[in-house]
Amino acid sequence: MRLQSVILAAGSGTRMKSKLPKVLHRVCGETMLQHVIDISKESNIQDNIVIIGHGADKVKETLDPEIKTALQSEQLGTGHAVMMAEDLLLESGTILVLCGDGPLITKETITSLISHHEKGKYVATVLTTELENPHGYGRILRQGENEFLKIVEEKDATESEKQIKEINSGIYCFDAQALRETLPLIKNNNAQGEYYLTDALSILKDQGKSIGVYKIDDYEDIVAVNSRIQLAQVEKIMRRRIAHKHMESGVTIINPEHTYIEKNVVIGPDTIIYPGVSLTGHTIIGEDCIIGNNTKIENSTIGNSVNIQNSTIIESVVEDHTSVGPYAYLRPNSHVGKHVKIGDFVELKNAKIGDYSKASHLAYIGDAEIGKNVNIGCGVVFVNYDGKEKHKTIVKDNAFIGSNANLIAPVLVEESGYVASGSTITKTVPKGALAVARSQQSNKIGWVEKRGLLKTKED
Ligand code: UD1
Ligand code: CA
Repeated sequence: MRLQSVILAAGSGTRMKSKLPKVLHRVCGETMLQHVIDISKESNIQDNIVIIGHGADKVKETLDPEIKTALQSEQLGTGHAVMMAEDLLLESGTILVLCGDGPLITKETITSLISHHEKGKYVATVLTTELENPHGYGRILRQGENEFLKIVEEKDATESEKQIKEINSGIYCFDAQALRETLPLIKNNNAQGEYYLTDALSILKDQGKSIGVYKIDDYEDIVAVNSRIQLAQVEKIMRRRIAHKHMESGVTIINPEHTYIEKNVVIGPDTIIYPGVSLTGHTIIGEDCIIGNNTKIENSTIGNSVNIQNSTIIESVVEDHTSVGPYAYLRPNSHVGKHVKIGDFVELKNAKIGDYSKASHLAYIGDAEIGKNVNIGCGVVFVNYDGKEKHKTIVKDNAFIGSNANLIAPVLVEESGYVASGSTITKTVPKGALAVARSQQSNKIGWVEKRGLLKTKED
């Protein structure tokens, strides 16, 4: 059976009180709309149509070019939204309608809904659930032997209909041909003056066709976001789901409630994640790592057995058995090798650090290439900026940069070159040489006493 999805995403989302179209608000790092598209594709639906309207250009910019779009320039209701895709709809097969503001839908639910629909040979099937507080949702009315009768919107419902707890998820399967024939028959004679997609089901029902209802227990799958409060609720649910997935595959998360992991992050088994950690974008973390409290890692790759404490790592790579932090800051395009130590208050930017090298405390290393087994002392500054341009520093294997040295780029320290503490280096340090670039010390004997500054015990 051919499959197609139509994703409704044209609404303005007034209650979000936002400049951003509702479906572009992010949940666990991705727009709500992209989540829905991803799930649709994971459910084996390659043909996806997104109905855009409010902020259409902005929404379109976020989509892969292969995604078809149909423009609904005036938002006259969910039925009207689907009408806008008329030219793109399948001639025959199954059309799944999804909502761009319902990012928690799962592959399992979509697949079971489609199979319920196809096995039951229904012309349309609606996905429903029961809610303790059904306020705001369309209610499912049943008749006779629990058969579907119709869907009543909150605003059109009588007091007794409002008591019904079974609600419409806004997700449906339609027989393509039946949907195409029914769309033109939908009217807007209701409390909101809108063309309701829900009416397509009662029209088909009145024609004597059989309508399926697929009711699920887990209401979380269908929570829709209409406000920032619901956005936070959905974020919480998705965050929990992501944490569970990692824990099930062998990651320890000490406190999942206080750990923020985005959807596309990959983590190896036996890695331990402490509270307050934020792992975002396309971050990959290996096995047996310790990611300590309040560490933030964005679009970075971390090897195996890496220990990171209280640090920020952005668009960088850290290889196996290295330790970072506490309070290190790895800015974009840094690449730290194996068995390296990047200690407290060390900042890296566009810097490559070779295996077994150390920068244990208080250093700025920008635009640099550092070899293997190099020691960068406390307080070293790679002076990369002359006020106009950035320049590069190269430090070769086994070099030693004494504490509080300045390396004024562009400059080169050759293999096993030593830089004396406190030096300001502006010229190449040759292989195996000691470079001393600081003023000589002179001692003025007896100076303190002559000045009358000598302290006695009584002072
Ligand atoms: C709709 C359903 C309701 C269901 C609820 C589930 C109708 C008439 N009602 O109500 O039964 O319980 O969803 O969340 O269908 N949209 C458009 N164009 C429009 C209007 C809406 O694309 O003209 C999109 C919105 O962007 C959104 C989705 O359709 O993604 C649902 O729209 P919304 O206005 O939130 O519908 P509800 O009134 O909540
Ligand atoms: Ca809604």
